[in-house]
Amino acid sequence: MKILAIETSCDDTCAAVVDGVKIMSNVVSSQTDLFAKWGGVVPDVAKRAHQKKIGLVTAEALKRGFELTKTERMEEIVVEGMKYVEVVAVTKGPGLAIALAVGINQAKQLALKYRKRLVAVNHVEGHLLSNWLTNKNGIPDRKIELPALALTVSGGHTKIVLIEKVGVYRLIGETVDDAAGEALDKAAKLLGLGYPGGPIIERLAKNGNKEIIKLPRPMVNQNNFNYSFSGLKTSLYYQTREWPKEKIGKHLADLAATFQEAVFDTLLTKFEKAIEEYKPKSLMGAGGVMANLEIRKMLRRVAKKRCLPIFMPFKKELNTDNAAMIGAAGYFKALRGEFEKNIELVERDPRWEI
Ligand code: KG4
Ligand code: ZN
Repeated sequence: MKILAIETSCDDTCAAVVDGVKIMSNVVSSQTDLFAKWGGVVPDVAKRAHQKKIGLVTAEALKRGFELTKTERMEEIVVEGMKYVEVVAVTKGPGLAIALAVGINQAKQLALKYRKRLVAVNHVEGHLLSNWLTNKNGIPDRKIELPALALTVSGGHTKIVLIEKVGVYRLIGETVDDAAGEALDKAAKLLGLGYPGGPIIERLAKNGNKEIIKLPRPMVNQNNFNYSFSGLKTSLYYQTREWPKEKIGKHLADLAATFQEAVFDTLLTKFEKAIEEYKPKSLMGAGGVMANLEIRKMLRRVAKKRCLPIFMPFKKELNTDNAAMIGAAGYFKALRGEFEKNIELVERDPRWEI
């Protein structure tokens, strides 16, 4: 089943073509350069950037996905590509309302004009199902045993989800305030490091001493599977606010390593407790923060200790936002016949829970 998928829930303009769970093309136009100076996403700027790029990104995904070489003209590529598309999938939420609207409008227009069926996808489900994606040739060939316990961690969410079946999810725990990626981004901003903070902190942390200051492990002793990350940034702020600039500069790697360790240790401690409680058959990592090699290592260690198979997206760029994952989730929804009945009425749902 050939699907055109569109994703604009945050600051990346994304379109992809998938054939079932095979990635035929996956185009991401990132806006990170725009937000580096702000230290975070500015919704209105994101919306305008999406509007500017969505047409081109869609055409590029169709061109690469169906290997269209006859024309370079955007309109002709879309007409040609849409002949092969069977279903349009789009992120309906959660995410930034005005950013979501751009992708939804594009998907609705294409579905109506070319008479295609439309599936509306939950962004978090997309992250979870990124683990089912393969390359054009069906590699890697994964047999994922369910139920799987997934830790999905990004700039917008931090959740432990029990995947009972594809399409049947149980939320086991989540952050009560900031997402873990958001905490990394805010800490980076506090240290004057730029945006997005996660990859910058990862790079610096490699050479850092993890004990330069003492940071808490919030909520780890509570009898639930929830997280709280907003206090970590506050603790970093209070412990370093009297430091002269030179001292911060000298210890950037140490502060990055200490902060990253506090976030990851907290994530993994609670995740291990959830493994004990729910006894899944496999484990899974997903979301932008899972692009980090250190947390991947930590997760693999946990899996080994518990003798469980562990799955993470087969390519680094499938962790961060992309439309192929929306295509995968859209494919399974389409198999279940969950199409939108009235395309004109499809609306964004910025707070859609999985
Ligand atoms: O999944 P994603 O692209 O977008 C959301 O749905 O939010 O995740 C973006 C988040 C950002 O907070 C970013 O700092 C974090 O993922 N991130 C990382 C890394 N790459 C991206 N965090 C730690 N290490 C990385 N290598
Ligand atoms: Zn995301």
